[in-house]
Amino acid sequence: MTFDLVVRGGTVVTAADAVRADIGIAGGRIVALAENLPAEGEVLDAGGLHVLPGGVDSHCHIEQPEADGTVHEESFVTASASAFAGGTTSVICFIPQFRGHPIGPTFDDYRLRARKAMVDYAFHQIVTDPTEEVVEKELPALVAHGVRSFKVFLTYDPLHIDDAQYLRVLTAARRLGAFVTVHCENYHAINFLTERLLARGMTAPKYHAWSRPPVVEREATHRAIALAELLGQPIQIFHVSCAEAAEEIARAKARGVAVWGETCPQYLTLTAADMDRPGFEGAKFMCSPAPRGPEEHERIWRYIRSRVLDVVTSDHCGFSYEGDRGKARHGRAAPFRDVPNGIPGLAARLPILFSEGVAKGRIDITDFVALTATNPARLFGLAPRKGTIAIGADADLVLWDTTKRVRLTNEMMRHAIDYTPYEGLEVTGWPVATVRRGEVVMREGSVQAEAGSGRYLARGPYALPKPLIPFPNGFDPLG
Ligand code: URP
Ligand code: ZN
Ligand code: ZN
Repeated sequence: MTFDLVVRGGTVVTAADAVRADIGIAGGRIVALAENLPAEGEVLDAGGLHVLPGGVDSHCHIEQPEADGTVHEESFVTASASAFAGGTTSVICFIPQFRGHPIGPTFDDYRLRARKAMVDYAFHQIVTDPTEEVVEKELPALVAHGVRSFKVFLTYDPLHIDDAQYLRVLTAARRLGAFVTVHCENYHAINFLTERLLARGMTAPKYHAWSRPPVVEREATHRAIALAELLGQPIQIFHVSCAEAAEEIARAKARGVAVWGETCPQYLTLTAADMDRPGFEGAKFMCSPAPRGPEEHERIWRYIRSRVLDVVTSDHCGFSYEGDRGKARHGRAAPFRDVPNGIPGLAARLPILFSEGVAKGRIDITDFVALTATNPARLFGLAPRKGTIAIGADADLVLWDTTKRVRLTNEMMRHAIDYTPYEGLEVTGWPVATVRRGEVVMREGSVQAEAGSGRYLARGPYALPKPLIPFPNGFDPLG
């Protein structure tokens, strides 16, 4: 057997095990795993390091067009560099849907943008307007192009859908073998609180958190699960920020409902107090759901350990602080309602989760791999090609120094955004090299990959989105 690249001397980690092994790579795939492989082709020395599957970040907003005509600043090129710098080799990002417009041209525009990527990528379709045309023609066409997951929002203007529309999306997903992900916050409750806060002059970034307390997330999580349960349709709850919402997922899982939970590093490290920093600085930490009190971090860890929350993504969102597309686009006195939501975190995801999780003894390294690579790959139909180290899988790897201590700076993030919310955070554990399909694309922070070398990951039919239950009484409301 001949190899293009041999990764030698490392401890190979999967979601199941950590073993000493060399990895032989040919044609971009893993073709051998053995104690001692001959040093053929290029050799990458992994002595003293752990070799993990490249990260799969199943929730990234990249170069995303918005309804107001702006496009997120993070391009596919800069996002790819950021992904590689942080040990991530595959991302799933979002095709928007603009109400009253067909999806087709937006999809064509978006996939043209994505052709510049270096990271491998798949798409979720955001569904804001499930008309008959969309459900009967556009979503089936997208599925035929390998887009097998939809995101719906239960809040945000102009994205939110009501319960009847949500049921239509679930029904379409059931018919098409697609997987639905849900942003769970109560639209009317947030508007109610926002109007009253603003009327009293409570406009600063910190009031963003006041406008969307845990109960609005808990209520929407409960409702999203209940309606999915009605149709027996598997779903994932996105960006769970608090124990109240996680508890809804735990109770549903205990009933046998097919529901998965995602959380993000911001809900393990940031707090509502960050949004109360002097001046307008708090805007740098504004995302939805909002970061909570510090006591929430340990609660979220409990739900990670008990496998209620199965996936940790970045929810990377490309808004700088300065500039005409940034957080302060409407000035530093802008009310919180007018500040774009979302924070960058693509490169920081793995180091923060490793440090807070593995280095601090909250999870072990196989759990870390499951949360950041294997589970998202399985949930979204990318496994076994992505998310694991196995014969036949794409040779996507990250060589990890488990002891290296690093103080995070924005420069290390290699993104197009002018800040990181994690500036100054000290982490233990760091990616020293990233390999994408057998090519070394990052070494010691230096990224080298050709624009356009990323591959589109079309997703075919897979078992996970299949409904679990027959309808009660034999009555099929979809029939
Ligand atoms: O605040 C956030 N999370 N912005 C990104 C869009 C979303 O809801 O995922
Ligand atoms: Zn969301
Ligand atoms: Zn998001």
